[in-house]
Amino acid sequence: MHPTLNIAIKAARRAGQIINRASLDVGQLTVNVKQQNDFVTEVDKAAEAVIIETLREAYPKHAILAEETGRSGAEDAEFQWIIDPLDGTTNFIHGFPQYAVSIAQTHKGVLTHAVVYDPTRNELFTASKGAGAFLNDKRIRVSKRNRLDEALIGTGFPYRVFDHIDAYLAIFKEMTRRAAGVRRPGAAALDLAYVASGRLDGFWEFGLSPWDMAAGALLITEAGGLVSDLAGEPNYLTTGNIICGTPKVFAQILQVIAPHRKGGLAA
Ligand code: IPD
Ligand code: CA
Ligand code: CA
Repeated sequence: MHPTLNIAIKAARRAGQIINRASLDVGQLTVNVKQQNDFVTEVDKAAEAVIIETLREAYPKHAILAEETGRSGAEDAEFQWIIDPLDGTTNFIHGFPQYAVSIAQTHKGVLTHAVVYDPTRNELFTASKGAGAFLNDKRIRVSKRNRLDEALIGTGFPYRVFDHIDAYLAIFKEMTRRAAGVRRPGAAALDLAYVASGRLDGFWEFGLSPWDMAAGALLITEAGGLVSDLAGEPNYLTTGNIICGTPKVFAQILQVIAPHRKGGLAA
C-alpha cells in the first residue's frame, strides 16, 4: 500500500473514533445551523481537526481544502487534501447510522488517493490511482448490471438550494419509473463508495461540494465505473453536479437527465 494512503487511513480512523464515541449520546450534541438545513456539531469540528493534524504532521507542505475550516497551505502546492470530516451530519445528529469520513488527495488537480470510512460498520473503502479500489483490503468493482430497469440507483434530494427542484423532481419521477429502485441514504461520499462496491448501480445528485465527491469519485473510477458532470464531462468537482455508475447504467442516467437540462440546470 502507498505510504500516503496509509497516512490518510490513519487520519480517517482517528476521526472515526471521535465520531463513534459521540454517537453513543447524540442527545448531548450542540448543533449549530450554518445556513438553512445545513448543520454542524462539535464532532464535525473535532474530527476535522484530528484529520488535519495527522496529515500536516506527515505532509506539512500540502494544501488543504476542508469543509469546516476551508482552504489552508500554499496556493501553489502540488498536493492538496480534500476533506469532509463527517459526511451525513443530519443523519448523525438523528442517530441514523449512515455517515462517513471522506479524505482525498490530488496531485496537480488529479485525484491520487481516496479514503471513505464508515465508522458505524468499520468499513474502510480505499483507492489509489492506477492501483484499484478496496473495501477492508478486498478488491471491489462496480456491479455487472447493464440495464437501468434492473439497477438500484442512489440520489440526494435538494435540501438547501431549491433553484432546480422542478428539474430534479422530473428526473426523479422518470428514474423511479425506469429503475428497479431509488434510494436516498443521506451521505453522498458513502453513496459513491456503494457504487464502487456494487451495492448501488448508479447515483446522481446536484449541488454537492468537492469534499462530498472527491474520494468517492476515485473509488468508482478505480472500481471500473464512470463519473461525470451533467454534460458527461469530468468537471463535477467544480460544477457540483455528479452522475456515476457502471459504464452502461451511467450512460442511461445521463440520457434520463439530458432533456431536463433545458431549464438552465448547469453541467
Ligand atoms: C451532505 C450529505 C448529503 C448530501 C448533501 C451533503 P454533509 O453532506 O452528503 O447526502 O445530500 O448535499 O451536503 O453536510 O452532511 O457533510
Ligand atoms: Ca458532505
Ligand atoms: Ca460534512
